Amino acid sequence: MKEMVLVTGGAGYIGTHTTVELVNAGYDVVIVDNLSNAEMAAVEGVRKITGVDVPFEKVDCCDKDALNKIFEKYKFNSIIHFAASKAVGESVLKPLLYYRNNITSLLNVLTLMKEHGVRNIVFSSSCTVYGQPKKLPVTEQTPRQPATSPYGNTKQICEDILRDTVSAYPEIFGIALRYFNPIGAHPSALIGELPKGVPGNLVPFITQTAAGLRDHLSIFGNDYDTPDGTAIRDYIDVVDLAKAHVVAVGRMINGKSLKNYEFFNIGTGNGVSVMELVNAFQKVNGVKVPYEIVGRRAGDIEKIWADTSYANKELGWKAERSLEDTLASAWAWEKKLRGIK
Ligand code: UD1
Repeated sequence: MKEMVLVTGGAGYIGTHTTVELVNAGYDVVIVDNLSNAEMAAVEGVRKITGVDVPFEKVDCCDKDALNKIFEKYKFNSIIHFAASKAVGESVLKPLLYYRNNITSLLNVLTLMKEHGVRNIVFSSSCTVYGQPKKLPVTEQTPRQPATSPYGNTKQICEDILRDTVSAYPEIFGIALRYFNPIGAHPSALIGELPKGVPGNLVPFITQTAAGLRDHLSIFGNDYDTPDGTAIRDYIDVVDLAKAHVVAVGRMINGKSLKNYEFFNIGTGNGVSVMELVNAFQKVNGVKVPYEIVGRRAGDIEKIWADTSYANKELGWKAERSLEDTLASAWAWEKKLRGIK
């Protein structure tokens, strides 16, 4: 019998890519999503890529009774919990929404795991928990710093909830994956990032500018203490990131966890500046991205990239796709969406 994995937020950007990799790795998957920031077309994309009619249930994880029915209907022993609100700026304007959605959904998932004897959970965390680290690259031992947004705070609080829960109930195993900046799309161009409204993140803004939907990209600040003055991030391919989830689930299923609660940096280990990213995008895709340098964006950190050696060694996982291939996939996806040849 195949193992089944429940993927909450499975219709979203990282959730769809992870579902594809889980199916490729031989798992059965059930997707739960409230479609608040995702489209059914994304689930259809997953079904098309995998050739599997992956079950989908429209459920909000904040609704415990509705989620309980999923735990009764399907037999799974592992959960990947993506379902959450994720826009940093919006979280500042709507903190109650962010605290309620992100914390209630995790509390419901953990409570139901306990009630139904479900053993394993992978939690979507973020490098945002490190704030602006004093020393780079960041290892898992780098101390977390106070969050700079309600969104970031929910990631810290949720990590703590997970840590304390598995410590009190040692029959539960948890892994938090601290993502750096996920970008790109599936090589099939059947799934990718689908931001609603004006994109807040860099790569969707670049692809929409290249596609002519936006007249130019604003680069937020060129007076940082970095070689070209623009901010530095660790951009990780979304398919590589998806594969890290498959490894994390397998690690718990196969009893390879060193402790009940573990956490890993999921990045490439390479710091890339905004300017370098824009130039690489233009070069690899042969398109122009008009840009303007503007002031810094409030709340942005200057630079961060991951030390991935612990994840590489312990998980036996490594980011493989080059930045160029990832940027080509992001453009292929945007072109497909807009019908550009
Ligand atoms: C933020 C969050 C991260 C979250 C991610 C995805 C923080 C510190 N980071 O990452 O936790 O997972 O969003 O939602 O809270 N930029 C421009 N012009 C633009 C857009 C972005 O110059 O139009 C620059 C930004 O200033 C930044 C870089 O591009 O230096 C990346 O920005 P973005 O894609 O928004 O991600 P982060 O802010 O790094």
